[in-house]
Amino acid sequence: PTTRVFNLTVSEIQAAPDGILRPLLVINGQFPGPLIRVNQGDRVLINVTNQLSNGTSMHWHGLYQNGTNWMDGTVGVTQCAIPPSDSFLYNFTVEQFGTYWYHSHFATQYTDGLVGPFIVHSPEESKIQEMYDYDQVVLLQDYYHNLSTTLLPGYLASGNENAEPLPDNGLIQGTNFFNCSSYPPDSGYICDQNSTRAIFNVAQGKRYRFRLINTGAFGEFQVSIDNHTIQVIEADATLVQPVTVSRLPIHIAQRYSILFHANQTATNYWFRAHMNDLCFSAENPVLDTDVRALVTYTNSTSDPNPTQSVDWSYALDASCEDLSTSDLVPYDPLPAPQVDITYPIEVSFQIGNYALDRAYINSTTWVPPTVPTLNQAVAGLHANDANFSTSGVSTAFSASQLVVDVPTYKVVDVLINSLDEGAHPFHLHGHQFWIMASGSRGDFEWNSYPTLNLTNPMRRDTLTVDAFGWALIRFKADNPGLWALHCHISWHMEAGLLMQFQTRDDIMEGWTLPSDVLALCDAK
Ligand code: C2O
Repeated sequence: PTTRVFNLTVSEIQAAPDGILRPLLVINGQFPGPLIRVNQGDRVLINVTNQLSNGTSMHWHGLYQNGTNWMDGTVGVTQCAIPPSDSFLYNFTVEQFGTYWYHSHFATQYTDGLVGPFIVHSPEESKIQEMYDYDQVVLLQDYYHNLSTTLLPGYLASGNENAEPLPDNGLIQGTNFFNCSSYPPDSGYICDQNSTRAIFNVAQGKRYRFRLINTGAFGEFQVSIDNHTIQVIEADATLVQPVTVSRLPIHIAQRYSILFHANQTATNYWFRAHMNDLCFSAENPVLDTDVRALVTYTNSTSDPNPTQSVDWSYALDASCEDLSTSDLVPYDPLPAPQVDITYPIEVSFQIGNYALDRAYINSTTWVPPTVPTLNQAVAGLHANDANFSTSGVSTAFSASQLVVDVPTYKVVDVLINSLDEGAHPFHLHGHQFWIMASGSRGDFEWNSYPTLNLTNPMRRDTLTVDAFGWALIRFKADNPGLWALHCHISWHMEAGLLMQFQTRDDIMEGWTLPSDVLALCDAK
Protein backbone atom coordinates (compact mmCIF):
# COMPACT_ATOMS: atom_id res chain seq x y z
CA PRO A 1 0.00 0.00 0.00
CA THR A 2 1.04 3.58 -0.65
CA THR A 3 2.05 5.69 2.31
CA ARG A 4 1.15 9.38 2.15
CA VAL A 5 2.62 11.96 4.48
CA PHE A 6 0.96 15.22 5.51
CA ASN A 7 2.06 17.93 7.89
CA LEU A 8 -0.56 20.03 9.62
CA THR A 9 0.72 22.91 11.73
CA VAL A 10 -1.87 24.57 13.90
CA SER A 11 -1.46 28.20 14.88
CA GLU A 12 -3.40 31.33 15.78
CA ILE A 13 -3.37 34.41 13.57
CA GLN A 14 -5.39 37.56 13.09
CA ALA A 15 -7.52 37.18 9.97
CA ALA A 16 -10.68 38.54 8.40
CA PRO A 17 -12.36 35.80 6.32
CA ASP A 18 -15.53 37.89 6.00
CA GLY A 19 -14.02 41.34 6.57
CA ILE A 20 -14.16 41.34 10.38
CA LEU A 21 -10.72 40.99 11.91
CA ARG A 22 -10.53 38.36 14.67
CA PRO A 23 -8.17 35.79 16.14
CA LEU A 24 -8.49 32.68 13.98
CA LEU A 25 -7.00 29.22 14.32
CA VAL A 26 -5.44 28.08 11.08
CA ILE A 27 -3.74 25.00 9.65
CA ASN A 28 -0.54 25.62 7.71
CA GLY A 29 -1.60 29.27 7.76
CA GLN A 30 -4.82 28.41 5.92
CA PHE A 31 -8.48 28.59 6.75
CA PRO A 32 -10.17 26.28 6.00
CA GLY A 33 -7.40 23.73 6.37
CA PRO A 34 -5.75 22.10 3.35
CA LEU A 35 -7.47 19.36 1.37
CA ILE A 36 -6.30 15.88 2.30
CA ARG A 37 -6.89 13.58 -0.65
CA VAL A 38 -5.89 9.92 -0.61
CA ASN A 39 -6.84 6.60 -2.13
CA GLN A 40 -8.71 3.83 -0.41
CA GLY A 41 -6.21 1.46 1.17
CA ASP A 42 -3.53 4.12 1.66
CA ARG A 43 -1.61 4.36 4.88
CA VAL A 44 -1.53 7.99 5.96
CA LEU A 45 0.95 9.66 8.26
CA ILE A 46 -0.31 13.02 9.41
CA ASN A 47 1.97 14.95 11.67
CA VAL A 48 0.06 17.56 13.68
CA THR A 49 2.24 20.27 15.20
CA ASN A 50 0.71 22.47 17.85
CA GLN A 51 1.81 26.11 17.84
CA LEU A 52 -1.12 27.23 19.95
CA SER A 53 -0.90 28.23 23.58
CA ASN A 54 -3.54 25.59 24.33
CA GLY A 55 -3.87 21.87 23.60
CA THR A 56 -5.26 20.53 20.35
CA SER A 57 -6.09 17.29 18.48
CA MET A 58 -7.31 16.17 15.08
CA HIS A 59 -10.25 13.84 14.39
CA TRP A 60 -10.91 12.19 11.01
CA HIS A 61 -14.66 12.44 10.89
CA GLY A 62 -16.30 9.31 9.53
CA LEU A 63 -13.19 7.14 9.24
CA TYR A 64 -13.45 3.88 11.14
CA GLN A 65 -9.96 3.63 12.64
CA ASN A 66 -10.48 -0.11 12.87
CA GLY A 67 -7.60 -1.42 14.96
CA THR A 68 -6.29 2.11 15.60
CA ASN A 69 -8.85 3.54 18.01
CA TRP A 70 -6.09 5.70 19.58
CA MET A 71 -5.79 7.59 16.26
CA ASP A 72 -9.41 8.79 16.44
CA GLY A 73 -8.35 12.16 17.85
CA THR A 74 -11.10 12.54 20.46
CA VAL A 75 -9.73 14.30 23.52
CA GLY A 76 -10.99 12.68 26.72
CA VAL A 77 -12.05 9.52 24.88
CA THR A 78 -9.10 8.30 22.80
CA GLN A 79 -6.27 10.67 23.66
CA CYS A 80 -5.00 13.53 25.77
CA ALA A 81 -4.68 16.83 23.94
CA ILE A 82 -1.45 17.49 22.03
CA PRO A 83 0.30 19.99 24.31
CA PRO A 84 1.53 23.38 23.08
CA SER A 85 4.88 23.22 21.24
CA ASP A 86 4.45 19.48 20.81
CA SER A 87 3.47 17.35 17.87
CA PHE A 88 1.78 14.01 17.33
CA LEU A 89 1.89 11.61 14.41
CA TYR A 90 -1.49 10.22 13.37
CA ASN A 91 -0.81 6.96 11.60
CA PHE A 92 -3.64 4.89 10.16
CA THR A 93 -4.93 3.04 7.13
CA VAL A 94 -7.92 4.37 5.22
CA GLU A 95 -10.30 1.52 4.49
CA GLN A 96 -13.24 3.50 3.17
CA PHE A 97 -13.85 5.97 0.35
CA GLY A 98 -15.96 9.07 -0.13
CA THR A 99 -16.34 12.51 1.42
CA TYR A 100 -15.05 13.04 4.94
CA TRP A 101 -13.54 15.92 6.89
CA TYR A 102 -11.16 16.51 9.71
CA HIS A 103 -11.37 18.80 12.69
CA SER A 104 -9.99 19.43 16.12
CA HIS A 105 -11.84 17.37 18.70
CA PHE A 106 -10.75 19.38 21.71
CA ALA A 107 -13.63 21.26 23.36
CA THR A 108 -15.19 23.72 20.86
CA GLN A 109 -11.87 24.44 19.17
CA TYR A 110 -12.85 23.41 15.63
CA THR A 111 -15.34 26.26 15.64
CA ASP A 112 -12.41 28.66 15.62
CA GLY A 113 -11.06 27.43 12.30
CA LEU A 114 -9.54 23.98 12.70
CA VAL A 115 -11.44 22.18 9.93
CA GLY A 116 -10.60 20.77 6.53
CA PRO A 117 -11.84 18.33 3.87
CA PHE A 118 -10.67 14.70 3.68
CA ILE A 119 -11.50 12.99 0.38
CA VAL A 120 -10.85 9.33 -0.35
CA HIS A 121 -10.92 8.02 -3.92
CA SER A 122 -11.53 4.46 -4.96
CA PRO A 123 -11.84 2.44 -8.14
CA GLU A 124 -15.37 1.84 -6.91
CA GLU A 125 -16.14 5.45 -7.80
CA SER A 126 -15.77 4.69 -11.49
CA LYS A 127 -19.40 3.69 -11.66
CA ILE A 128 -20.47 7.22 -10.71
CA GLN A 129 -17.64 9.18 -12.29
CA GLU A 130 -19.30 9.02 -15.67
CA MET A 131 -22.06 11.20 -14.21
CA TYR A 132 -19.85 14.30 -13.88
CA ASP A 133 -16.93 16.13 -15.47
CA TYR A 134 -15.61 18.06 -12.47
CA ASP A 135 -15.29 17.24 -8.79
CA GLN A 136 -15.32 20.15 -6.34
CA VAL A 137 -15.22 20.28 -2.54
CA VAL A 138 -17.55 22.92 -1.05
CA LEU A 139 -17.24 23.78 2.64
CA LEU A 140 -20.19 25.44 4.38
CA GLN A 141 -20.23 26.71 7.92
CA ASP A 142 -21.79 29.13 10.30
CA TYR A 143 -19.32 31.66 11.59
CA TYR A 144 -18.72 33.80 14.65
CA HIS A 145 -16.83 37.05 15.04
CA ASN A 146 -15.35 35.94 18.34
CA LEU A 147 -13.38 32.97 19.55
CA SER A 148 -15.52 30.15 20.91
CA THR A 149 -13.61 30.43 24.16
CA THR A 150 -14.93 34.00 24.45
CA LEU A 151 -18.50 32.91 23.73
CA LEU A 152 -18.59 29.80 25.89
CA PRO A 153 -18.60 31.18 29.43
CA GLY A 154 -21.80 33.10 28.76
CA TYR A 155 -23.45 30.04 27.26
CA LEU A 156 -22.38 27.71 30.04
CA ALA A 157 -23.43 30.12 32.76
CA SER A 158 -26.37 28.88 34.75
CA GLY A 159 -29.70 29.70 33.13
CA ASN A 160 -28.35 30.22 29.60
CA GLU A 161 -28.59 26.64 28.35
CA ASN A 162 -31.14 27.59 25.72
CA ALA A 163 -29.11 30.56 24.52
CA GLU A 164 -26.48 29.08 22.25
CA PRO A 165 -24.06 31.61 20.79
CA LEU A 166 -25.67 32.84 17.56
CA PRO A 167 -23.69 32.84 14.31
CA ASP A 168 -22.81 36.27 12.92
CA ASN A 169 -22.38 35.04 9.35
CA GLY A 170 -22.16 31.97 7.17
CA LEU A 171 -19.16 31.08 5.04
CA ILE A 172 -18.74 29.17 1.80
CA GLN A 173 -15.15 28.07 1.14
CA GLY A 174 -14.20 30.07 4.22
CA THR A 175 -15.34 33.39 2.84
CA ASN A 176 -18.38 35.66 2.53
CA PHE A 177 -19.47 39.25 2.29
CA PHE A 178 -20.31 41.05 5.51
CA ASN A 179 -21.90 44.46 5.72
CA CYS A 180 -19.66 46.44 8.07
CA SER A 181 -22.42 48.90 8.88
CA SER A 182 -24.29 46.09 10.65
CA TYR A 183 -22.18 46.97 13.67
CA PRO A 184 -22.21 50.40 15.27
CA PRO A 185 -18.95 52.36 14.78
CA ASP A 186 -18.05 51.90 18.45
CA SER A 187 -18.46 48.10 18.32
CA GLY A 188 -14.72 47.62 18.53
CA TYR A 189 -14.65 45.47 15.40
CA ILE A 190 -12.18 46.27 12.66
CA CYS A 191 -14.06 45.67 9.42
CA ASP A 192 -12.89 45.66 5.83
CA GLN A 193 -15.85 46.30 3.54
CA ASN A 194 -14.20 44.50 0.64
CA SER A 195 -14.88 40.97 1.79
CA THR A 196 -16.12 38.77 -1.03
CA ARG A 197 -18.24 35.75 -1.70
CA ALA A 198 -16.87 32.52 -3.09
CA ILE A 199 -16.99 32.09 -6.85
CA PHE A 200 -17.47 28.85 -8.74
CA ASN A 201 -16.50 28.98 -12.41
CA VAL A 202 -18.46 26.59 -14.57
CA ALA A 203 -18.27 25.79 -18.26
CA GLN A 204 -21.38 25.61 -20.40
CA GLY A 205 -22.51 22.05 -20.91
CA LYS A 206 -20.32 20.50 -18.21
CA ARG A 207 -21.59 18.48 -15.26
CA TYR A 208 -20.38 19.14 -11.74
CA ARG A 209 -20.08 17.17 -8.56
CA PHE A 210 -20.07 19.41 -5.49
CA ARG A 211 -19.04 17.64 -2.30
CA LEU A 212 -20.82 19.66 0.38
CA ILE A 213 -19.48 19.48 3.93
CA ASN A 214 -21.08 21.38 6.81
CA THR A 215 -18.09 22.17 9.03
CA GLY A 216 -20.06 24.56 11.24
CA ALA A 217 -20.84 24.68 14.94
CA PHE A 218 -24.60 25.12 15.05
CA GLY A 219 -26.31 26.20 11.83
CA GLU A 220 -28.13 23.96 9.37
CA PHE A 221 -28.14 25.05 5.71
CA GLN A 222 -30.66 24.62 2.91
CA VAL A 223 -28.65 24.40 -0.30
CA SER A 224 -29.90 25.25 -3.77
CA ILE A 225 -28.59 26.66 -7.05
CA ASP A 226 -30.82 29.18 -8.82
CA ASN A 227 -32.34 27.81 -12.03
CA HIS A 228 -30.49 24.51 -11.70
CA THR A 229 -31.81 21.27 -10.35
CA ILE A 230 -29.53 19.29 -8.10
CA GLN A 231 -29.24 15.57 -7.67
CA VAL A 232 -27.98 13.98 -4.48
CA ILE A 233 -25.62 11.04 -5.06
CA GLU A 234 -23.75 10.65 -1.77
CA ALA A 235 -24.56 11.17 1.90
CA ASP A 236 -21.87 10.78 4.59
CA ALA A 237 -19.72 8.73 2.20
CA THR A 238 -22.56 6.38 1.29
CA LEU A 239 -23.31 6.50 -2.43
CA VAL A 240 -27.04 6.78 -2.98
CA GLN A 241 -29.29 6.32 -5.95
CA PRO A 242 -29.56 9.77 -7.57
CA VAL A 243 -32.45 11.76 -6.17
CA THR A 244 -33.46 15.17 -7.51
CA VAL A 245 -34.19 17.89 -4.98
CA SER A 246 -34.75 21.63 -5.31
CA ARG A 247 -33.04 22.29 -2.01
CA LEU A 248 -31.03 20.13 0.28
CA PRO A 249 -30.87 20.40 4.07
CA ILE A 250 -27.41 19.72 5.48
CA HIS A 251 -26.85 19.73 9.21
CA ILE A 252 -23.60 20.01 11.16
CA ALA A 253 -20.91 17.45 10.20
CA GLN A 254 -23.01 15.91 7.42
CA ARG A 255 -21.71 15.56 3.88
CA TYR A 256 -23.61 15.33 0.62
CA SER A 257 -22.43 15.13 -2.95
CA ILE A 258 -24.71 16.87 -5.39
CA LEU A 259 -24.63 16.90 -9.19
CA PHE A 260 -25.77 19.71 -11.43
CA HIS A 261 -25.59 20.38 -15.13
CA ALA A 262 -24.29 23.77 -16.25
CA ASN A 263 -26.91 24.03 -18.95
CA GLN A 264 -28.37 27.50 -18.37
CA THR A 265 -28.09 30.52 -20.62
CA ALA A 266 -27.52 33.53 -18.37
CA THR A 267 -24.02 34.36 -17.18
CA ASN A 268 -24.33 34.19 -13.40
CA TYR A 269 -26.41 32.39 -10.81
CA TRP A 270 -26.45 32.15 -7.03
CA PHE A 271 -25.41 29.07 -5.17
CA ARG A 272 -27.40 29.47 -1.98
CA ALA A 273 -26.83 28.05 1.45
CA HIS A 274 -29.72 29.48 3.38
CA MET A 275 -28.92 29.32 7.08
CA ASN A 276 -31.97 28.03 8.86
CA ASP A 277 -32.03 30.45 11.77
CA LEU A 278 -35.52 29.36 12.68
CA CYS A 279 -33.69 26.53 14.42
CA PHE A 280 -31.90 29.03 16.65
CA SER A 281 -33.15 30.18 19.99
CA ALA A 282 -33.16 33.81 18.84
CA GLU A 283 -32.36 35.99 15.85
CA ASN A 284 -29.02 37.66 15.43
CA PRO A 285 -29.70 41.05 13.80
CA VAL A 286 -26.31 41.12 12.04
CA LEU A 287 -26.77 37.68 10.47
CA ASP A 288 -27.73 37.58 6.79
CA THR A 289 -29.15 34.07 6.48
CA ASP A 290 -29.03 34.29 2.68
CA VAL A 291 -25.49 32.92 2.40
CA ARG A 292 -24.42 32.85 -1.24
CA ALA A 293 -21.63 32.06 -3.65
CA LEU A 294 -21.52 32.98 -7.32
CA VAL A 295 -21.82 30.37 -10.03
CA THR A 296 -20.45 32.05 -13.14
CA TYR A 297 -20.40 30.84 -16.73
CA THR A 298 -18.14 33.70 -17.81
CA ASN A 299 -15.43 33.85 -15.18
CA SER A 300 -16.93 36.94 -13.57
CA THR A 301 -14.83 37.94 -10.61
CA SER A 302 -17.31 40.22 -8.90
CA ASP A 303 -20.89 39.95 -7.72
CA PRO A 304 -22.93 41.36 -10.58
CA ASN A 305 -26.07 40.61 -8.62
CA PRO A 306 -27.75 38.00 -10.72
CA THR A 307 -31.49 38.42 -10.64
CA GLN A 308 -32.87 34.95 -11.02
CA SER A 309 -36.15 34.24 -9.47
CA VAL A 310 -35.84 32.05 -6.47
CA ASP A 311 -38.41 30.13 -4.54
CA TRP A 312 -38.10 31.55 -1.06
CA SER A 313 -40.91 29.47 0.35
CA TYR A 314 -38.38 27.10 1.82
CA ALA A 315 -37.13 29.81 4.12
CA LEU A 316 -40.36 29.32 6.02
CA ASP A 317 -39.43 25.80 7.02
CA ALA A 318 -39.38 25.81 10.76
CA SER A 319 -37.80 22.41 11.10
CA CYS A 320 -34.18 21.50 10.74
CA GLU A 321 -34.80 17.96 9.66
CA ASP A 322 -32.69 15.81 7.39
CA LEU A 323 -33.73 14.97 3.89
CA SER A 324 -36.22 12.17 4.40
CA THR A 325 -34.42 8.86 4.76
CA SER A 326 -36.93 7.32 2.39
CA ASP A 327 -35.37 9.53 -0.32
CA LEU A 328 -31.93 8.10 0.37
CA VAL A 329 -31.37 4.62 -0.98
CA PRO A 330 -27.81 3.28 -0.88
CA TYR A 331 -26.43 2.62 -4.34
CA ASP A 332 -24.70 -0.54 -3.16
CA PRO A 333 -27.31 -2.48 -1.22
CA LEU A 334 -26.27 -3.69 2.19
CA PRO A 335 -29.03 -5.30 4.20
CA ALA A 336 -29.19 -4.45 7.87
CA PRO A 337 -28.18 -7.55 9.82
CA GLN A 338 -30.50 -9.11 12.33
CA VAL A 339 -29.98 -7.68 15.75
CA ASP A 340 -28.26 -9.97 18.26
CA ILE A 341 -30.02 -8.75 21.34
CA THR A 342 -33.62 -8.05 21.87
CA TYR A 343 -33.15 -5.12 24.21
CA PRO A 344 -32.17 -1.98 22.33
CA ILE A 345 -29.92 0.39 24.14
CA GLU A 346 -32.28 3.24 24.91
CA VAL A 347 -31.05 6.71 25.69
CA SER A 348 -32.89 9.97 26.21
CA PHE A 349 -31.25 13.32 26.08
CA GLN A 350 -32.18 16.78 27.18
CA ILE A 351 -30.56 20.15 27.18
CA GLY A 352 -31.73 23.46 28.44
CA ASN A 353 -35.21 22.44 29.45
CA TYR A 354 -36.39 22.53 33.02
CA ALA A 355 -33.50 24.80 33.99
CA LEU A 356 -30.84 22.14 33.59
CA ASP A 357 -27.47 23.74 33.75
CA ARG A 358 -25.98 21.27 31.30
CA ALA A 359 -26.93 18.67 28.72
CA TYR A 360 -27.78 15.17 29.85
CA ILE A 361 -27.95 11.76 28.19
CA ASN A 362 -29.99 9.66 30.57
CA SER A 363 -28.67 11.07 33.82
CA THR A 364 -25.10 11.71 32.70
CA THR A 365 -23.56 14.96 31.55
CA TRP A 366 -20.20 14.41 29.89
CA VAL A 367 -17.11 16.13 31.22
CA PRO A 368 -13.88 15.13 29.49
CA PRO A 369 -11.82 13.12 31.99
CA THR A 370 -8.13 13.86 32.52
CA VAL A 371 -7.28 10.29 31.63
CA PRO A 372 -9.08 9.33 28.39
CA THR A 373 -11.60 6.51 28.77
CA LEU A 374 -9.62 4.45 26.24
CA ASN A 375 -6.53 4.68 28.42
CA GLN A 376 -8.60 3.79 31.45
CA ALA A 377 -10.10 0.80 29.67
CA VAL A 378 -6.76 -0.50 28.45
CA ALA A 379 -5.38 -0.09 31.95
CA GLY A 380 -7.99 -2.54 33.14
CA LEU A 381 -11.42 -0.99 33.30
CA HIS A 382 -13.00 -3.65 31.20
CA ALA A 383 -16.39 -5.06 30.67
CA ASN A 384 -18.71 -5.20 33.52
CA ASP A 385 -20.01 -8.06 31.42
CA ALA A 386 -22.68 -6.13 29.77
CA ASN A 387 -26.05 -7.48 30.46
CA PHE A 388 -28.38 -5.75 28.13
CA SER A 389 -31.38 -6.27 30.29
CA THR A 390 -29.76 -3.64 32.46
CA SER A 391 -28.64 -1.70 29.36
CA GLY A 392 -24.94 -2.55 29.49
CA VAL A 393 -23.90 0.70 31.16
CA SER A 394 -20.40 0.30 32.51
CA THR A 395 -20.00 1.39 36.07
CA ALA A 396 -16.24 1.20 35.86
CA PHE A 397 -15.80 4.83 34.83
CA SER A 398 -16.48 8.03 36.69
CA ALA A 399 -19.99 9.40 36.95
CA SER A 400 -19.42 11.86 34.09
CA GLN A 401 -18.85 9.03 31.59
CA LEU A 402 -21.84 7.21 30.14
CA VAL A 403 -20.14 4.17 28.61
CA VAL A 404 -22.24 1.35 27.23
CA ASP A 405 -20.24 -1.82 27.03
CA VAL A 406 -20.68 -4.28 24.17
CA PRO A 407 -17.92 -6.71 25.13
CA THR A 408 -18.07 -9.09 22.19
CA TYR A 409 -19.14 -8.71 18.60
CA LYS A 410 -22.84 -7.96 18.45
CA VAL A 411 -25.28 -6.14 16.25
CA VAL A 412 -27.04 -3.62 18.46
CA ASP A 413 -29.87 -1.14 18.20
CA VAL A 414 -29.76 2.23 19.85
CA LEU A 415 -32.94 4.21 20.34
CA ILE A 416 -32.16 7.89 20.80
CA ASN A 417 -35.03 9.87 22.31
CA SER A 418 -35.02 13.65 22.26
CA LEU A 419 -36.59 15.48 25.16
CA ASP A 420 -35.57 18.78 23.62
CA GLU A 421 -37.35 21.25 21.35
CA GLY A 422 -34.39 21.59 18.97
CA ALA A 423 -33.00 19.34 16.22
CA HIS A 424 -29.71 17.64 17.06
CA PRO A 425 -27.21 16.13 14.58
CA PHE A 426 -25.86 12.97 16.25
CA HIS A 427 -22.58 11.45 15.12
CA LEU A 428 -21.27 7.98 15.92
CA HIS A 429 -17.52 7.52 15.78
CA GLY A 430 -15.92 4.45 14.24
CA HIS A 431 -19.01 3.15 12.45
CA GLN A 432 -21.72 3.79 9.98
CA PHE A 433 -25.15 2.92 11.32
CA TRP A 434 -28.30 1.85 9.57
CA ILE A 435 -31.22 4.20 10.11
CA MET A 436 -33.89 1.69 11.04
CA ALA A 437 -36.59 4.25 11.78
CA SER A 438 -36.94 7.84 12.92
CA GLY A 439 -39.72 10.20 13.78
CA SER A 440 -40.77 13.64 14.92
CA ARG A 441 -42.56 14.01 18.22
CA GLY A 442 -44.05 11.01 19.91
CA ASP A 443 -42.29 7.73 20.58
CA PHE A 444 -41.06 4.80 18.61
CA GLU A 445 -43.86 2.26 18.27
CA TRP A 446 -42.44 -0.95 19.61
CA ASN A 447 -45.05 -3.01 17.84
CA SER A 448 -43.44 -1.97 14.55
CA TYR A 449 -40.11 -3.45 15.67
CA PRO A 450 -40.58 -6.91 14.14
CA THR A 451 -41.44 -5.40 10.76
CA LEU A 452 -38.58 -2.94 10.33
CA ASN A 453 -37.23 -2.73 6.79
CA LEU A 454 -33.96 -4.63 6.66
CA THR A 455 -33.55 -4.71 2.90
CA ASN A 456 -31.37 -1.67 2.24
CA PRO A 457 -31.92 1.06 4.81
CA MET A 458 -29.87 4.23 4.58
CA ARG A 459 -26.54 4.11 6.40
CA ARG A 460 -24.53 7.13 7.43
CA ASP A 461 -22.53 8.49 10.35
CA THR A 462 -24.41 11.68 11.26
CA LEU A 463 -28.18 11.87 11.63
CA THR A 464 -30.46 14.64 12.82
CA VAL A 465 -32.78 13.68 15.65
CA ASP A 466 -35.86 15.86 15.33
CA ALA A 467 -37.25 18.10 18.03
CA PHE A 468 -38.94 15.88 20.62
CA GLY A 469 -38.32 13.09 18.10
CA TRP A 470 -36.42 9.83 18.10
CA ALA A 471 -34.21 7.70 15.92
CA LEU A 472 -33.55 3.99 15.99
CA ILE A 473 -30.10 3.18 14.65
CA ARG A 474 -28.38 -0.19 14.26
CA PHE A 475 -24.68 -0.87 14.11
CA LYS A 476 -22.25 -3.75 14.17
CA ALA A 477 -20.17 -3.43 17.31
CA ASP A 478 -17.23 -4.99 15.48
CA ASN A 479 -14.66 -2.21 15.85
CA PRO A 480 -12.62 -2.48 19.05
CA GLY A 481 -12.30 0.64 21.18
CA LEU A 482 -14.05 3.55 22.84
CA TRP A 483 -16.37 5.40 20.45
CA ALA A 484 -18.21 8.63 21.05
CA LEU A 485 -21.85 9.14 20.13
CA HIS A 486 -22.60 12.83 20.44
CA CYS A 487 -24.50 15.83 19.26
CA HIS A 488 -22.14 17.57 16.82
CA ILE A 489 -23.37 21.06 17.68
CA SER A 490 -20.13 22.15 19.27
CA TRP A 491 -21.87 24.10 22.04
CA HIS A 492 -23.93 21.07 22.99
CA MET A 493 -21.00 18.67 23.10
CA GLU A 494 -19.22 21.08 25.40
CA ALA A 495 -22.36 21.18 27.56
CA GLY A 496 -22.09 17.40 27.95
CA LEU A 497 -24.14 15.84 25.13
CA LEU A 498 -21.81 12.89 24.57
CA MET A 499 -21.83 9.20 25.45
CA GLN A 500 -19.56 6.32 24.46
CA PHE A 501 -19.57 2.70 23.45
CA GLN A 502 -16.86 0.31 24.55
CA THR A 503 -16.73 -2.47 22.00
CA ARG A 504 -14.82 -5.72 21.50
CA ASP A 505 -13.26 -6.04 24.93
CA ASP A 506 -12.15 -9.47 23.76
CA ILE A 507 -9.70 -7.73 21.40
CA MET A 508 -8.95 -4.71 23.58
CA GLU A 509 -7.70 -7.00 26.31
CA GLY A 510 -4.58 -7.61 24.23
CA TRP A 511 -3.86 -3.92 23.73
CA THR A 512 -1.09 -1.74 25.01
CA LEU A 513 -1.29 1.83 23.78
CA PRO A 514 1.63 3.15 21.70
CA SER A 515 4.09 5.07 23.84
CA ASP A 516 3.62 8.33 21.91
CA VAL A 517 -0.13 8.15 22.64
CA LEU A 518 0.52 7.58 26.34
CA ALA A 519 3.14 10.34 26.39
CA LEU A 520 0.50 12.94 25.49
CA CYS A 521 -0.94 12.45 28.96
CA ASP A 522 2.41 12.96 30.68
CA ALA A 523 2.80 16.54 29.57
CA LYS A 524 2.44 19.03 32.35
CU1 C2O B 1 -16.83 15.24 13.73
CU2 C2O B 1 -16.91 13.51 17.39
O1 C2O B 1 -16.84 14.35 15.53
